[in-house]
Amino acid sequence: MSSQNYVKIFDTTLRDGEQSPGCSMNLAEKLRIAEQLEALGVDIIEAGFAIASDGDFEAVQAVARQAKTATIASLARAATGDIDRAWAALKDAKNPRIHTFIATSPLHMRVKLEMEPEAVLEKIRASVSHARNLCGDVEWSAEDATRSDLDFLCRAVETAIRAGASTINLPDTVGYATPETYGAMFRDVISRVPDADKAIFSTHCHNDLGLAVANTLAAVSGGARQVESTINGIGERAGNAALEEIAMALRVRNDVMPYATGVNTREITRASRLVSAVTGFQVQPNKAIVGANAFAHESGIHQDGMLKDASTYEIMTPESVGLSESSLVMGKHSGRHAFRQKLEELGYKLGDNEFQDAFKRFKDLADAKKHVYDEDIVALVDDETIRD
Ligand code: KIV
Ligand code: ZN
Repeated sequence: MSSQNYVKIFDTTLRDGEQSPGCSMNLAEKLRIAEQLEALGVDIIEAGFAIASDGDFEAVQAVARQAKTATIASLARAATGDIDRAWAALKDAKNPRIHTFIATSPLHMRVKLEMEPEAVLEKIRASVSHARNLCGDVEWSAEDATRSDLDFLCRAVETAIRAGASTINLPDTVGYATPETYGAMFRDVISRVPDADKAIFSTHCHNDLGLAVANTLAAVSGGARQVESTINGIGERAGNAALEEIAMALRVRNDVMPYATGVNTREITRASRLVSAVTGFQVQPNKAIVGANAFAHESGIHQDGMLKDASTYEIMTPESVGLSESSLVMGKHSGRHAFRQKLEELGYKLGDNEFQDAFKRFKDLADAKKHVYDEDIVALVDDETIRD
């Protein structure tokens, strides 16, 4: 696959992910997550927002010093003090990146920044140039890009590239975009901005409408070659695009999305569990890729299919995301085939009559009880069976 089809994975679990209310992490936890992100094979780790607090500064610095292969980024507003602080935290990294941003939507410029658009352009020029004088790798983000005027956004991107930004990030800050509009925005900006080929375009999607991953993939089709995401999709409000979903979508549907990433998908489950344990944010059971039910099957028809050939009901193997096996969950929808298999796993061999009787009692129990555990099945059959 050509290098033009390589999509860089930018992980912002430690910065935007940590901005989830109630999810702050201490230094040791951040270092452990950063280590796992490198094992996962992400290209860039955004380690924090160095000016936000002394703790954030120390975390960015420690991650920068620990990192072996990944580029380490720190966020900075378009202000000299922010950028200098980011650089001070990053300068020991093997591969440092300053990530600076300013809002470009009429709403944000008027209400939040209280600046005229021309003044914002000048701020972009000055901030990116300042960052570029300190660091060879500068990313610039147009906050609220998806609610920005397209002509103005193109002028802002052109200014940032001229000033030395080599990555241009167009975030859907409030999760407002749809796949069609977000993909089209990338196509339009990339085709209209002179020297667009001097930069890598990047997506950054929030999940307010549940479209973050779909929007991210649409942007890749529109020409983006860096995706910003977090483990388990944690982040402000409804969260960010989930890294594991993007990586697996690009892997499983490579036939229609022929892009490569450096992600070692077998490290996904480990990364997900680590982030969940550290933040205390539990992953919903039906979450794609990493939810407890993502590879679990309860209905009789599905269990029967799985026992014959797993590809009947699984589009990826559990091993491909670092799980040892799928699970057949015993419940009221389970059929005879799965029940017999479960009994064999538990060491029971039942004759036909015993089996029919045990199956009937199992169904009665499953009707009355949400979860039927192995112990329940053992208790159900123990008094009248021969154990191997
Ligand atoms: O959502 C956003 O716009 C951001 C930027 C600061 C990159 O997180
Ligand atoms: Zn964000």
